[in-house]
Order: sequence, then structure tokens, then C-alpha cells
Amino acid sequence: MVIPTNFKLLYSANEIYNKIYALSKQLNRDYLNKDDVCFIGVLNGAVFFLTDLMLQLDFAAGVDFIRASSYGLNTETSGNVILSNIDHLNLNNKHIIIVDDIVDTGLTLHKIKNTLQYNYNPRSIKTCVLIKKYGRERISVEIDYYCFELGNEFVVGFGLDNNNQYRNLRDIYII
Ligand code: IMP
Ligand code: MG
Repeated sequence: MVIPTNFKLLYSANEIYNKIYALSKQLNRDYLNKDDVCFIGVLNGAVFFLTDLMLQLDFAAGVDFIRASSYGLNTETSGNVILSNIDHLNLNNKHIIIVDDIVDTGLTLHKIKNTLQYNYNPRSIKTCVLIKKYGRERISVEIDYYCFELGNEFVVGFGLDNNNQYRNLRDIYII
């Protein structure tokens, strides 16, 4: 793929792989003796990260997906997070790990976590992201697992998009 000249390489595919591998070790330890673990991927961005992470795990786990959107065509959140595809989930008594590509203001993960907590009766509920932005928080939500920390930059690649483009870049770039 031709990378636009204004894109700046931030994390290489190899660095991403190594971080995901380290995170999988942490999850293997934390979930060693737990059954009924279910990963909830946040569509669309989390798919790439979630797949690579789950393939490294030593324990059996389920996976399901919900959809969240708040950005539309912008690089700033509208503040209004819309969730869909949640009615089919069966999460009662499960250990839930919500997986998203990136946390920015926290509005998306906060809404998902509250909605799952309220609608189901999970045994535990944790959050896991590839990238955690700092200094951007608009609502407090605990990020239990993450690979990278980043300031106020907009990034694409490895699932992260700008207007649904560039998700399939192997490396992550600042645009
Ligand atoms: P939040 O609700 O503001 O935390 O935003 C979370 C969502 O915004 C993520 O699921 C991403 O889809 C999107 N997002 C935030 N920052 C970026 C970025 O730098 N690149 C691509 N998507 C982003
Ligand atoms: Mg997203």
C-alpha cells in the first residue's frame, strides 16, 4: 500500500506484536483459573487487535461484538456514543473483557462498561485497549489492560481508521 507522505510511523508491526505478546502473558496469569471468560470486541476498530491478542492466549474464552460510534466523519468525538448490536449478548455470570482499539475521551468505554454492567450480571468486567491516550479524559473509566500510551495525536493503522480508511496498515502512523 502506498503510504501518504505526511504519515509519520509511530509503532511498527513488530513493536505491536511484542506488546500484544506481553499483554497476553499478563492475561494468561490473571485469568488462569477462571472459566466463562468472554471478550467483547468493539466494532470496527478492535477486530485486528482482538484477533491477534486472543490467538496468543492459553485459556479458553468466548468472543462477541458490539458496535459503537461517535465520530462520524470527524477526528473528534461528537460526545454522543451510540451502541448497537447488544441485545443478543448472553453475559450473565461471565468474566467480561471489553476490547477496543483506543481510548481517547473515555466516553465510549464508559458507556459500554455501564451498559453491560446494568443489562447483565457479569462476575467481573475489565477494559483492554491497544492504545490509551492521556490528558484527553472527559469521563473517568479504568483501563485495566493496554499496550501503548499516547498523547494528543490522531493515529491510523492496525484497525484504527480515519473515515474507515487505513485500518489494514500493518504499522501505526500519526496522520
Ligand atoms: P472515546 O469515546 O473518545 O474514548 O473514543 C474512542 C473511539 O474513538 C475509539 O473506539 C476509536 O474508534 C476512536 N478514536 C479515538 N482516537 C482515535 C485515533 O487516534 N485514531 C482512530 N480512531 C480513534
Ligand atoms: Mg472504535
